[in-house]
Amino acid sequence: MDKKALYESVLLQASGLIEPGLKPVSLFANITALLKQNIPYLSWCGFYLKNEDRSLYLGPFQGLVATTHIPFEKGVCGKAAREEKTVIVEDVHAFPGHIACDAGSQSEIVVPLLHHGILLGVLDLDSYDHAAFDTIDQYYLERLMQQVVESLS
Ligand code: SME
Repeated sequence: MDKKALYESVLLQASGLIEPGLKPVSLFANITALLKQNIPYLSWCGFYLKNEDRSLYLGPFQGLVATTHIPFEKGVCGKAAREEKTVIVEDVHAFPGHIACDAGSQSEIVVPLLHHGILLGVLDLDSYDHAAFDTIDQYYLERLMQQVVESLS
């Protein structure tokens, strides 16, 4: 599979979703749909957005119903939010504190959404495949989040 080609297409399509005055939640919703439609190894993708109290709440997503509240101290999403860095987990069963929303999930990547250095939330992608995500996913998903935040400025 040519991941780079998949993501180049995602970035191009994402630029077509951005329009002046668009509400962030509408863009977030379409970004999750775009990813789910284009990246075949995703089982779930969605945003968790930041509360004032160092926790995250479920935002727009594609996939099975999911946990609605994640403290910064918990899970892969909490780690990415706490450290404001992308976290790649090859085997979720080996990650202490992983929050299982779908028993079939095997690997995960969580990318922070930072607006002028302020954390807005995270983008979470899950897969039924072991070690589905690597630095190519990281590179392109970080670029995608950059594209998203620039459109909010
Ligand atoms: N696995 C995540 C929780 C969210 S679900 O994957 C949708 C975590 O450990 O933070």
